[in-house]
Amino acid sequence: MIEFQAVTKQYDDGTTAVHALDLRVEEGRITVFVGPSGCGKTTSLRMINRMIDPTSGRILIDGKDIRESDPPLLRRGIGYVIQQAGLFPHRTVLDNVATVPVLTGTSRRAARKRAGELLDLVGLPAGVAKRYPAQLSGGQQQRVGVARALAADPPVLLMDEPFSAVDPIVREGLQEELLRLQAELAKTIVFVTHDIDEAIKLGDRVAVFRQGGVLAQYESPAVLLANPADDFVSSFVGRDRGYRALGFLPASGVAVGEVACVRFGGKVGAARTSLEDGWAIAVDEASRPLGWLSAARLSTVSDDAEVTEDLVISGGSLYHVSARDGATAGSLRSALDSALSSPAGRGIAVDGDGAVVGAVQAEDVLTALSAARTAGKVPS
Ligand SMILES: Nc1ncnc2c1ncn2[C@@H]1O[C@H](COP(=O)(O)OP(=O)(O)O)[C@@H](O)[C@H]1O
Ligand SMILES: [Mg+2]
Repeated sequence: MIEFQAVTKQYDDGTTAVHALDLRVEEGRITVFVGPSGCGKTTSLRMINRMIDPTSGRILIDGKDIRESDPPLLRRGIGYVIQQAGLFPHRTVLDNVATVPVLTGTSRRAARKRAGELLDLVGLPAGVAKRYPAQLSGGQQQRVGVARALAADPPVLLMDEPFSAVDPIVREGLQEELLRLQAELAKTIVFVTHDIDEAIKLGDRVAVFRQGGVLAQYESPAVLLANPADDFVSSFVGRDRGYRALGFLPASGVAVGEVACVRFGGKVGAARTSLEDGWAIAVDEASRPLGWLSAARLSTVSDDAEVTEDLVISGGSLYHVSARDGATAGSLRSALDSALSSPAGRGIAVDGDGAVVGAVQAEDVLTALSAARTAGKVPS
């Protein structure tokens, strides 16, 4: 556990970067520092590993004042990942990851073996180990940066905008990977970002900073969205926060209704008779949805034609009723989105194997939401 107690940092030119910060970072969790540029996130982060010392106040790690620790020793227990990965350009990827363990006494052989395992752990193919950083994509370099920070197996990981320089699709992949890693490793992670969506996605708790290094609110993402402390947080958290907050409410209370399913490749005549309210879901042999069939579209062909691709209307997100591989099952947001994005006005609900189990209607999602509110399950 990391604890900031009345920590203030004033730079020599008089800038107050961090103002009277009181904050507890929980062990084994991801704590995100988020806020606009210049609000003291990096300064706060770097005070944890003593790259910067506070002007006043103190920081404790596991109850011990870090001023009493020797900085190099302290940093051995604290991995650090920065935006451009900060890799050594003239060392191979494998040696980038193995360097620190070798410096701290691990044999070169053991360090390299472990480095190989870590590269695999962060999702890099074995082929990259012998390459140099410049021969990697930005996203791959960030993965190497994470592997290197994990090499000494530190209990604490500090990450300063590690994914900000890569494009949005790659960033999303890196975020997923970090969550997967964290489920396995349970490090104490402090993650800095200026992107509120990233903060909400990754954080177990999110600290929102404002200009002048003032902590505006420190809460779980669900509470932050449902109940921002003031106008600053509310505008920073942004539009659609009510809708996004649905992402934190399990959709377990949503009624899943029956829906007609038609096997792809069957006859149109049979499909036509199975439509309900003019719609049916086209499914494959494993009952996985391929899209919708509508009375209107089917009326363009004869009864003995086959149900083929050009009759299927795609579109609509899926609502996962049950989880797959330990991933979380659907939220109210995914249930509502599936209903709203479906051409049939009903969302397709699937199980962990992706097979259709029924359909959800937007009204039923809203009913479940009011039930959750009545039961006090919605943060307020
Ligand atoms: N070495 C420094 N000397 C003087 N001012 C600094 C220094 N480093 C950062 N600052 C100032 O402190 C404030 C907070 O900076 P920083 O912690 O880097 O913010 P963030 O990471 O949230 O963008 C900013 O106003 C910045 O200009
Ligand atoms: Mg910064």
